[in-house]
Amino acid sequence: MADKNYFAHESAYVDEGAVLGDGTKIWHFSHILSGARIGNRCVFGQNCSVAGSVVVGNNVKVQNNVSIYDGTVIEDDVFLGPSCVLTNVTNPRSQVNRHSLYEKTILRRGATVGANATIVCGIEIGRYAFVAAGAVVAKNVPDYALMMGCPARQHGWMSRHGHRLGEPDAEGVMTCPESGFRYQEVEPGVLRCLDLDEESPLPEELAMGEKTYDEYKK
Ligand SMILES: CC(C)(COP(=O)(O)OP(=O)(O)OC[C@H]1O[C@@H](n2cnc3c(N)ncnc32)[C@H](O)[C@@H]1OP(=O)(O)O)[C@@H](O)C(=O)NCCC(=O)NCCS
Repeated sequence: MADKNYFAHESAYVDEGAVLGDGTKIWHFSHILSGARIGNRCVFGQNCSVAGSVVVGNNVKVQNNVSIYDGTVIEDDVFLGPSCVLTNVTNPRSQVNRHSLYEKTILRRGATVGANATIVCGIEIGRYAFVAAGAVVAKNVPDYALMMGCPARQHGWMSRHGHRLGEPDAEGVMTCPESGFRYQEVEPGVLRCLDLDEESPLPEELAMGEKTYDEYKK
């Protein structure tokens, strides 16, 4: 295709009928099925697959060995860690055909799924939620929630820059050590950023990491 503005490695298959946005990269041995719609500036690592009814937003980063099955919606800025697992049937049985019964799983804008975590289908992972490595998530996850363990439980909040938010101050405000953005529970279990709307893009000057996670923890 002369007019394609994405890159696919020679070992990858992008089926006729898949739509890929500008600047998207598909690396070794990955397969994008016909009908899949992938936004701009996404990166799919090695050995990924995207089913034909899947819609992926812009700037989505997918690490090696991730399959995105029919029924999944991936919004902008989602990060899927290596070998994480998404599912689409709660009660699969080889003898029973449930191809018309795939359950919907929605990963909202900016969510992160850690390495080797599993998302049981039919749930929604909130904006900027953070699923720890190896967690098994089977329930809806609120915006900014940090989910750890099996079954995954909420262990506080994670900022948009991916830092655990410490104890709130007297006004109930928690501050991200990297961005300085303030966060507050506007009602029990509902966290909002007071300085940047969840749907607004991150300002460019805040999009380059300069210190490691542990340096901010000190
Ligand atoms: C969730 C995460 C951010 C927590 O990091 P952290 O705040 O530095 O956590 P700590 O190392 O201080 O550990 C705090 C506690 O949680 C436990 N813990 C840490 N990560 C855990 C995980 N993924 N699952 C279960 N427990 C975990 C620690 O063992 C420790 O337990 P303890 O209090 O009983 O000693 C990190 O562990 C993680 O999973 N990051 C995702 C990494 C990833 O998948 N990257 C993909 C791109 S390469």
